[in-house]
Amino acid sequence: MDIFDAVASRYSCRAFLPTPVPEKTVRDIVERAARAPSAGNLQPWRIYAIAGKRIEALKAQLRPRMATELPKGEGTEYQIYPNPMGDPYRERSFTVGELLYQSIGVPRADKPARYRQYARNYEFFGAPVALFLAREKEHGAAQWADIGGYLQTVALLARGHGLHTCPQQAWVSFHRTVRAFLDLPDHLMIYSGLALGYEDPAAAINGWRSPRAALDDFASFDGFES
Ligand SMILES: Cc1cc2nc3c(=O)[nH]c(=O)nc-3n(C[C@H](O)[C@H](O)[C@H](O)COP(=O)(O)O)c2cc1C
Repeated sequence: MDIFDAVASRYSCRAFLPTPVPEKTVRDIVERAARAPSAGNLQPWRIYAIAGKRIEALKAQLRPRMATELPKGEGTEYQIYPNPMGDPYRERSFTVGELLYQSIGVPRADKPARYRQYARNYEFFGAPVALFLAREKEHGAAQWADIGGYLQTVALLARGHGLHTCPQQAWVSFHRTVRAFLDLPDHLMIYSGLALGYEDPAAAINGWRSPRAALDDFASFDGFES
């Protein structure tokens, strides 16, 4: 797969097949993704990959809590969205939510159904592999950005292996449980989870794509010879 196809075909996959992914493949992705650029070459990412019994054990811890603890969970360890969130960001976030729930026939007013879908995050959407991306608590904005670049590199490399991904900040809402489960040292915190596996092409939730702003809305170009 060339880089253009990898970028174009990446999307947040929210239904995976149970087909296992060999450890060798996961190691390859995690290792190669460390070619992502990082300010000062700090390489500030820490990756925890889990599969098989470990995934099942984590899911089993969360499952009985879903009915009563969503959407707040344990409260996020860091603020994920700007508050207040002005336009165009609010509108973009709203639109993607509408598209997601429309694709599975859930009306906005049906909160229980929306929470049931949201709870699928804590099943890794059925993915056989999960990554947790952790960071040093004391690191700053540049290191957050580096980990974002690492995450995107994982997503693109996954495409190279015929795999799909879904980044999952939803796991930050259960940061205490994840910390205990991974035995995360005090100086680290979870930045995001990421589900990894083969997409279920028949799942309606995988059948839509998020819109993007037009080029001129976010970029300017000056001084080029035409
Ligand atoms: C750091 C990060 C965390 C995310 N967390 C979640 C999540 O917890 N659950 C989810 O369903 N999607 C999550 N997403 C996916 C975004 O909703 C998605 O990237 C966005 O709507 C654009 O859609 P696309 O990835 O399909 O192009 C996350 C994306 C990023 C980059």
